[in-house]
Amino acid sequence: MCGIVAYIGKNKALPILLDGLKRLEYRGYDSAGIAVLNSGVHSIKSVGKIKALEEKLDSKKFSGKIGIAHTRWATHGEPTEINAHPHSGDQGKFWVVHNGIIENYRTLKDKLIQKGHNFKSQTDTEVIAHLLEDFYKDNITDALISTLKLLKGTYGLAVICKDEPDKLLVARNGSPLVIGVGQDETIIASDVSALIRHTRQVIYLDDGEIAEIDQNNFRIINIQEKEIKKTVEEIEWSLEQAEKSGYPHFMLKEINEQPESIINSIRGRTIIKDGKVKLGGLETIMNITRFIEKISIVACGTAKHAGMVGQLMLEEYANLETSVEFASEFRYRKPIIDQKTAVIAVSQSGETADTLAAMREAKTKGALTLGIVNAVGSTIARETDAGVYNHIGPEIAVASTKAFTSQVAILALFTVLFGRQRQMSMVMGRRILGELNALPDKIKFVVKQNNKIKKIAKKYYKSNNILYMGRKYNYPTAIEGALKLKELSYIHAEGLPSGEMKHGSIAMIDKDFPSVFIAPEDSVYEKNLSNIEEIKARSGPVIAVTTEGNKELKKLVDEIFYIPKTLEMLTPILATIPLQLFAYHMALLNNKDVDKPRNLAKSVTVE
Ligand code: M6R
Repeated sequence: MCGIVAYIGKNKALPILLDGLKRLEYRGYDSAGIAVLNSGVHSIKSVGKIKALEEKLDSKKFSGKIGIAHTRWATHGEPTEINAHPHSGDQGKFWVVHNGIIENYRTLKDKLIQKGHNFKSQTDTEVIAHLLEDFYKDNITDALISTLKLLKGTYGLAVICKDEPDKLLVARNGSPLVIGVGQDETIIASDVSALIRHTRQVIYLDDGEIAEIDQNNFRIINIQEKEIKKTVEEIEWSLEQAEKSGYPHFMLKEINEQPESIINSIRGRTIIKDGKVKLGGLETIMNITRFIEKISIVACGTAKHAGMVGQLMLEEYANLETSVEFASEFRYRKPIIDQKTAVIAVSQSGETADTLAAMREAKTKGALTLGIVNAVGSTIARETDAGVYNHIGPEIAVASTKAFTSQVAILALFTVLFGRQRQMSMVMGRRILGELNALPDKIKFVVKQNNKIKKIAKKYYKSNNILYMGRKYNYPTAIEGALKLKELSYIHAEGLPSGEMKHGSIAMIDKDFPSVFIAPEDSVYEKNLSNIEEIKARSGPVIAVTTEGNKELKKLVDEIFYIPKTLEMLTPILATIPLQLFAYHMALLNNKDVDKPRNLAKSVTVE
C-alpha cells in the first residue's frame, strides 16, 4: 500500500524522510522515491527496498530542509523506477507524491498531451504534476486548488515547488494524511507510525482539506479557500499500535478494513446505468473471452473458497460451465482444457507455488490464463495473459480476511462481464452491480457487532469440534468459516453442505458438539431450516447466521447473528465476516497468536 512522508522545518529533511519510509515498510510496497528542495530539486527513486534507495543516495546533494517521499504499491503501471514517485512535470517545477487513484487521469492526460505536455510514466499521478505546471502563475496554492478541482477519484498528496522553496502543500480526499506538529518543524505522513518518533501532536486532515505549510506556520483551507480551524490531538499509541491503526492485531484491523477494501476493489469498475463492468486489465482480451466455453478456477485455501462462490455465480448468471480446483491437485490430474477454456488463478500473494504451477500447466495446454491477484507485479500477475488486481493493500495477518471478500467481489465483476457478453440482461447487470456497490455500508453494520460475536465466542471457546454448514452460495462460506477457526484456534472444525450431514457427520452430534449454520433467507433457506431442526432434535447447540429481521430461527437456535439482506450470490461476502470475527475471538480466548498461527506462512511458495 502506498505511503507518504513529507517534511519542512529546521532540520535536514533526508534522515527524517528515510526514517518515515522505513516505518511504512510494514504496509508493503514495490518501489520508493524522495525529492528534496535545496537550490533546486534533487530526486531519486528505486525499485525494491528502501535500503536500495539509500545506497543510491548522495546525502550531500540532499541537504535541504524540505522534502517529500513515497513508497509505492503499484496500481497504474508496473513497479519501475519511472513509475515510482515523486513525479514532476516537463519543467521539473513541481514534485508530487500521491496515494489513491485519479479515475479521470486518462482524459486529463489526453488534454495535456494535446497542449504539448510530455509524459514519462504510466501513472495516474503524473497528471497532477503537469496540471500544477499548467496552472502555475505565481502562487502554488492557487495552482493546487485549480488542479484539485479537475481531479476525480481519491488522493492524499504532498507537493513541493522549485519556485517557492519555503512551502509544502498537502491535500486529502479519500486517502489519509496526518500532520505532525513539532518544534519549528512539521512532518506529514499517510500513517502516524511514520511520524510518531518525532512528535505526538497531530492534526488529522479531513476530505476536501488542503494544508499550506512553511517552517513555522500552517494554514488549513478547503477548496473554496475558506480557512478551517482544526484541533491538535495527542497520539497515545505505541509505535506497534500505530502500525495497526490502534487495533490490537492486524487481523482485526483487516476485518474492519473490509468496507473500504470492497470499495477499492470495485471502484471505477462498475457502470451501473448500463449494467456493465469495465476491467482495464482484461480489455486486451475481451474479444477472446467472448468465445470462451468453459472456465476453470485454480486456487488454494481461502482463495479456493472464493473461487467456489465464483463457480456458482458464473454458472447461474453467465451461463458458463465452471469448475473450481485445488491448485495442488490440478497439475497432477489430466484436466480437460483447451483454447476455449479460461483458467482463472485466484491468489492474494500471487506467489503461491501450487497456484502458479497450475496456471503454468494450463498455459502449456493452450488455455487463456487470467489472474485475480492482490500483489502487484507478483509472479502470477506477470505470467497470466491478463488479470485484475484486488487493490486492497497488503494483507499482513496470515489468516486471509479482506482478500476473500475482495476476491468474491471481483468474481462477481467477472460474472457480469462474461454474462453481459452472453445472455445476461442489462437489468440483471444493473441489479448485481447496484447490490455490489451497496455492500460497504452493509459490511459496516456487520463489523459493528463485534462485541456480540465476542460474547458468543465466550460460550464456545472450550469446544473441541465445531461443524460449519451451509448450502449453495454459503457452502463455501461454511468451509471458509471452518478453515478460519482451525488455522487460528487449532480447534477441529469441518465445513459441510448442510444436506450432507445426515450421510454420516450427524452421528457426532450431541449436546457438546456445536454447529454453525449459515442460513440467510435465500433460495435454500427452508432446506437449511430442516437441517437445523435435525441437529436440534439431537440436542446439538446451533449458532446461526441469517438475514436481519428473521424471527423464525431465533426461536429455534441457541445463538443468532444477523446480516443485512443482499442478493443471494453476494451473501458470502457478508456472512463470512461474523465467522472471521468468531474465529478471531475463539483464538484469543484460547491464547493463540492470531496474526501468526503456528506452522503457517503468509505466502506458501513451496509445494
Ligand atoms: O496468497 P494466496 O491467496 O494464493 O494464498 C492461498 C492460501 O495459502 C491462503 O488463502 C491460506 O489458506 C490462508 N492462510 C487462509 O487464511
